Amino acid sequence: MNKLKGSPRRYGAFDDHAQEYVITTPHTPAPWINYLGNNGFYGLFSHTGGGYSFWQDAKLRRLTRYRYNNIPADSGGRYFYLKQGHTIWSPGYRPANTELDSFECRHGTGYSKINSRLGAIRSELLSFVPLDTRAEVHRLRLSNEGEQPQSMQLFSFVEWCLWNADEDASNFQRNLSVGEVTVDGSLLVHHSEYRERRDHYAFFSVNQAISGFDTDRDAFLGPQGTLACPDVVCRGQSRNSVADGWSPIASHQLDIELAPGESRDLIFVLGYIEVAAADKWADNPPSASRQSTSAAVPYLAPAHALAHRFADNDAVERHVNALKHYWQQQLQGFHVASPEPLLDRMVNIWNPYQNMVTFNLSRSASYFESGIGRGMGFRDSNQDLIGVVHLEPTRARQRILDLAATQKRDGSAYHQYQPLTKQGNSDIGGNFNDDPMWLVFAVSGYVRETGDLSILAAPVAFDDQPDGDAALFDHLSASFQHVLNKLGPHQLPLIGRADWNDCLNLNCFSDDPDQSFQITENRQGDVAESVMIAGQFVLFGREYQTLCEQTGRTQAAAAAADAIAGMVRAVETHGWDGDWFLRAYDALGRPVGSRSNQEGQIFIESQGFCVMADIGLHNGKARSALDAVADRLATAHGIVVQQPAYSRYYPEYGEISSYPPGYKENAGIFCHANPWIMIAETRLGRGTKAFDYYTRIAPAYREQNDQQLHRQEPYIYAQMIAGKDAKRHGEAKNSWLTGTASWNYYAVTQFILGIRPELDGLRIDPCIPASWAGFSVIRRFRDATYHIEISNPDGLEQGVRRICVDGQWREGNLIPVLSGEVQVKIIMQAL
Ligand code: BGC
Ligand code: NOJ
Repeated sequence: MNKLKGSPRRYGAFDDHAQEYVITTPHTPAPWINYLGNNGFYGLFSHTGGGYSFWQDAKLRRLTRYRYNNIPADSGGRYFYLKQGHTIWSPGYRPANTELDSFECRHGTGYSKINSRLGAIRSELLSFVPLDTRAEVHRLRLSNEGEQPQSMQLFSFVEWCLWNADEDASNFQRNLSVGEVTVDGSLLVHHSEYRERRDHYAFFSVNQAISGFDTDRDAFLGPQGTLACPDVVCRGQSRNSVADGWSPIASHQLDIELAPGESRDLIFVLGYIEVAAADKWADNPPSASRQSTSAAVPYLAPAHALAHRFADNDAVERHVNALKHYWQQQLQGFHVASPEPLLDRMVNIWNPYQNMVTFNLSRSASYFESGIGRGMGFRDSNQDLIGVVHLEPTRARQRILDLAATQKRDGSAYHQYQPLTKQGNSDIGGNFNDDPMWLVFAVSGYVRETGDLSILAAPVAFDDQPDGDAALFDHLSASFQHVLNKLGPHQLPLIGRADWNDCLNLNCFSDDPDQSFQITENRQGDVAESVMIAGQFVLFGREYQTLCEQTGRTQAAAAAADAIAGMVRAVETHGWDGDWFLRAYDALGRPVGSRSNQEGQIFIESQGFCVMADIGLHNGKARSALDAVADRLATAHGIVVQQPAYSRYYPEYGEISSYPPGYKENAGIFCHANPWIMIAETRLGRGTKAFDYYTRIAPAYREQNDQQLHRQEPYIYAQMIAGKDAKRHGEAKNSWLTGTASWNYYAVTQFILGIRPELDGLRIDPCIPASWAGFSVIRRFRDATYHIEISNPDGLEQGVRRICVDGQWREGNLIPVLSGEVQVKIIMQAL
């Protein structure tokens, strides 16, 4: 369909004033989604109302059903149908698919609006999860803009998931017999398995009396029915079905008359209720309208109370304004005004917004992650935290403690954990040898931001010593030591299953398609080494050393400094290929990412990590490595992972060579790794180059180009853009849940704009394009708001020698920790 002649190549535009992205057609090249909810209750919400909702855990507490690989794609959501005579249409276009006279979907921070019109009827749907509420609110406003009275029937529709999304999609022999529901007036309740071990149920309600309902999918759709044309909607009359097994749904019928000029608001609430054990079977007041599958009905008062909180429009307005206010406040944490409006748009709105989503959901639930596979990633969540720690320090602190609790005494960590239980996932286990040091990165980021060194003393037991008394600091030492305890023949870190590059599986050696690349190790693992982990160890090891110093651990600090110096020597000696850093040594001790290889001669990760760690900064190696990246890896769409792409499967490299050339880790553009090169460029003082790389992948810049080529949502980063070897070079995949968000934010705010938190203040060291005359930033930091104005009269890329704080000039580039409103002026000067 995208290839149709004359089809539009733009599907929307930014509205900066409203802080929304406005999608102007239902026919985007892929579902363009948003996330509702910020703290426990989450909904994925596409521009046509598709998606699903869950409480805390997309696998274990899935409220509504979503089918993967569906045809058409993105069927299933919170749906509405309007029937006017013979015309049936959906205000969100789907699922009726009737072409509309007008359509727009506005995705904002934590809410979405779909506005449409057909004939005389205008429909405005506002969908959001109110702050601290276990429910989605959907307000549907219908207005008659014509001259004649209009009458119609409105049908709502959601399909329940039987809680465990994995079982729901596989264990039909059980599922089709356990469905239970209760109807109590306008409250349609789903409570399968409540009779046994569950203490929770879900409901879908509307704030008005209804003229009918359905809770049985077959009754609603009809025997051969489709979502596009359910039997009940076509005949214009609900069947008042009470589900008994099979597939429970919730659908209301409302009969609506609108005089010319009249509007009606209908407030639907999709909620989740947990009932205290003592109340589980508490009596409900008698009700003539109640009907249920089961004799014993769950205690409904909490559901009625939650629904009732949104009984009128004032309540909806109040809550949506509170949500907007929350986001306004959040987004004021860092605000830039630069010569580049597209940069400002990213830094001020969309990048921190995506950071929050990745922090909440790690890699669990998106349109590319099923929600039933990966939970919270150890590596992933530690990185995600960096993008939000200035906005949500308290939640970041808790996350650090949760992550550390899945670490073992030897420093290794479960690669993933389940958000609901916080237990490490044994199916995947650990042995990804970069994992431990990411915890150091997260903790140092937290301490730099908050100054809260007390977190280091917080008790957190190791996963394999639940009764031991360990403090967080012991976890950092365990991480640091883990690398040193696992050095290979060249004194470089052993890679284990993989490092950051999940697909460089140097110990896998699999020729069995039924083995997972991620967990198979057919080699001992005592030879293959990672230069990326070496660079990571030096970079984050210095942060560890600083934390030792800041807490008076002088001996540990000195030992760390020695170990780091040793690692730098190992990299310079054995990790250098002549013009760039090697990537690794394979299980036979042969170099990977070397000129001596036929394919995969140069990789992005080791260039990024070694130069970020300042290895080779003073002997030309760093410069040479980054020049090689520019020559060999950079494309107009971003920097690819490696070159030349692997053209065949190499058992000694694993999954990386399983991908067709140009996709994913096999020479795709991993947007996550690009900012490492941006930061590395700033270490060399090359601000123009760093920023150039930034613009190649930043959504707001790409949005100006061919949206059809990019294909995914133009307002947020995708994990991968197909590389130059791919047929679809420039096409994005895996949008939303990616470390790309926090790393790009970190690179642009802390290294390009150069405002970097430290324990004792804000270090100001911009590295910008020479063409910029200056820029200003408002930065909240601890108890102060700093108004920082930087001018660049000489067209430099870097150089801050002194700063003026509240009218007083000081030498150096550190603004001390202050309180209140602080005015800072800086004139860049050659160093
Ligand atoms: C993907 C990686 C991902 C990994 C997670 C691989 O197939 O290419 O990007 O991190 O799976 O399991
Ligand atoms: C995506 C994973 O979430 C991340 O952990 C990994 O580092 C990258 N893929 C690269 O393989």
